[in-house]
Amino acid sequence: MKEEKLRELLHSLSMTEKIGQLIQVPGNMLHAEGQELGVRDELGIGEELLKNVGSTLNVVGAEQVRRVQEEYLKHSSAKIPLLFMADIIYGFRTVYPIPLALGCSFEPELLRRLCAATAQESVAGGAQVTFSPMGDLVRDARWGRCLESTGEDPTMNAAYVRACVEGFQEGLSGKTGEPAESGAATKTGEPEQARHPENAPARGIASCVKHFAAYGAAEGGRDYNTVDMSERRLRQDYLPSYRAGVEAGCEMIMTSFNIVDGIPSTGNRWLMQDVLRKEWGFEGVVITDYAAIAELITHGVARDKKEAAQLAMEAGVDIDMCTGCYAGSLEELIKEGKISQEQLDEAVWRVLSLKNKLGLFEDPFRGADAAAEQELYLREEFRALAREAAVKCSVLLENRNGLLPLAPTAGSGAKLALIGPFADNRDALGMWAIHGDQDAVVTIRQAFSETPGLDFDWTEGCETLLADDYADLPALVENGGRSCWSEEKKEAEWSRAMALAEGADVAVLALGEDTVQGGEGGSRTRLTIPGDQMRLLREVRKRVSSVVVVLFAGRPLVLDEVKELADAVLLVWYPGTEGGTAIRDMLFGVSEPQGRLSMSLPRSVGQLPLYYNAFSTGRPYDGKTVNRFFSRYTDCPNTPLYPYGYGLSYHTAEYGPVQLDSHTLNGGGSITARAAVTNTGSRDGVETVQLYLQDVTGSVVRPVRELKGVKKLALKAGETGIAEFTITEEMLSFYGKDMQYRAEPGLFRVGICPDSSGELGAEFELV
Ligand code: NOJ
Repeated sequence: MKEEKLRELLHSLSMTEKIGQLIQVPGNMLHAEGQELGVRDELGIGEELLKNVGSTLNVVGAEQVRRVQEEYLKHSSAKIPLLFMADIIYGFRTVYPIPLALGCSFEPELLRRLCAATAQESVAGGAQVTFSPMGDLVRDARWGRCLESTGEDPTMNAAYVRACVEGFQEGLSGKTGEPAESGAATKTGEPEQARHPENAPARGIASCVKHFAAYGAAEGGRDYNTVDMSERRLRQDYLPSYRAGVEAGCEMIMTSFNIVDGIPSTGNRWLMQDVLRKEWGFEGVVITDYAAIAELITHGVARDKKEAAQLAMEAGVDIDMCTGCYAGSLEELIKEGKISQEQLDEAVWRVLSLKNKLGLFEDPFRGADAAAEQELYLREEFRALAREAAVKCSVLLENRNGLLPLAPTAGSGAKLALIGPFADNRDALGMWAIHGDQDAVVTIRQAFSETPGLDFDWTEGCETLLADDYADLPALVENGGRSCWSEEKKEAEWSRAMALAEGADVAVLALGEDTVQGGEGGSRTRLTIPGDQMRLLREVRKRVSSVVVVLFAGRPLVLDEVKELADAVLLVWYPGTEGGTAIRDMLFGVSEPQGRLSMSLPRSVGQLPLYYNAFSTGRPYDGKTVNRFFSRYTDCPNTPLYPYGYGLSYHTAEYGPVQLDSHTLNGGGSITARAAVTNTGSRDGVETVQLYLQDVTGSVVRPVRELKGVKKLALKAGETGIAEFTITEEMLSFYGKDMQYRAEPGLFRVGICPDSSGELGAEFELV
């Protein structure tokens, strides 16, 4: 629709119809099969408004979307199509590794590709907007939502968010037949027929970057808890990823549940108006997180729903996700002059513009197509991408005596036992794979069974959880959400596992964190492998000479004992639909695990929050001196068990010294840093070469080091490659004493290393 017509439409709407556009309700409140409108109006929206609400969430599937839209359009007076949003976080039907794992790929392009693939499945399934990517920086593994983040580094997170937005929105705003340039949204004003030509298939889904801002910094890693930090840290570390999303043209931003400088994001004018809209120029739609406007009352900054609605509206929140606050109060607030007609119109305009950009006025069903679902869901190319991703995201933590890759057992005579609750577990996708097809998941057992000549025995051995690992387990069991093993089954499984171990030469133990332990509301204080699994590992270790642990997890776990007990440890996170195939390929050397840690793995929960790019302290500890008056623990080293950026490979590599083409960087210019990297192993492989910089002195305290570049070098056995990085003044910039973002002259150190613990061996001066 042309902009002029859209304006006419806006002005023709009644107050109720306008307010409706700003309300999002769960699908079960709308007409669905066998259900009347409003029968479940828990939010007290009222029938008139319900007929005209602007959007719904997590209603997916072509048939369902078409039915709901059809019914909606029959009853709505404004006849403006409903917008379908959904949590499509790391895949739709085909599920990819969790974002924390994707962060280990150090390959933003991989995320762009899999978000574009996800968009294809999603469009067929009727989704129009995804609440993804999550740009929240994470430093505390207790927080269950680490699994939805790409990790602890601001530069990488920004690159990943940009890539995801570009992938999801590919083709969304492009002209006829052409993809949109680097996913950047084309703003309104294009000729209508160029944007939505008849019969042109819908492409791309709108991306909603969340949770703005700093949701990942919840104190103690307890979900929804207080966030409190300096504006400097907020801007330096936490905001860059959201900003990258805005610069990439994301259509939406979601507010976070937490406070920012004492004010909940959802009512935070400074955050939404000054930073997001004025500084960054964001013109898209702002939506709250689930029920966040009503939470302004429980936070204690609003007396009632009306005041909460006023605060949110003043902050610039367009859509109220699933509360009755806007529904019950906006009209009154406008009549009382507390909210202006212009404020209302602006918010509605943004929602209408998004609907227009998606082409809903031309086709309210936008790509929702049962035949396309059949054709696209779990297509072989998506499965292949999921396999590729799982290999690129898995981190080999240990590999003593080169145990991995295992020799193919066929003909070798070695007896292989596959043991553990993740050996044949389809419930290993992570909490947010809510639209994923669990039946399509390939387990390790299945992949082994489908491999000709691979001789193995398998058993689970034990369950993932015991009652004290998860406080809500008894309730879950009681309401039928889960069943537990009987005592007989427990004993039988355990005996079988021990018997298998006795007779095996190699044991592959598939262990991990249960999916219910992570994700939203999944905070933990003990970060060990739960249940009886550690006991299983100890007992198997006593019986088998070679032990490989394949570890499933949604967050960094404390692995000190695992490190001692296992000969090889392969951290696969939650690896997605093709996890089993990828794991088999890695174990037998068909492919090489390529992941490098996106979060530091702690030695102890007491070290948290733990991150490589910490500020320099006045008393840094060298790890050796016998003196307590340093910044140190007296019972644990400061260093992580495995550092950020770490990961082994099946090849080995040696890094030469850093060479700079100049030791002086003139403002505005650049210098080149190089290091020779040699594959010293006997297999070809890919090295993830990392550039770290340290700003030695600044007007404010600077981090001990920061990642500023990554190069993946494919090296043949014996080959030497050159990793080359260009260092610019922009890479040295930060928020100084005066809060201006710029680089300050002085000394910098440079390291080109395999991980964040490497040496910073070269220096230059910025003049
Ligand atoms: C709450 C979560 O915090 C958010 O990430 C999600 O998108 C919404 N619920 C909608 O399901």
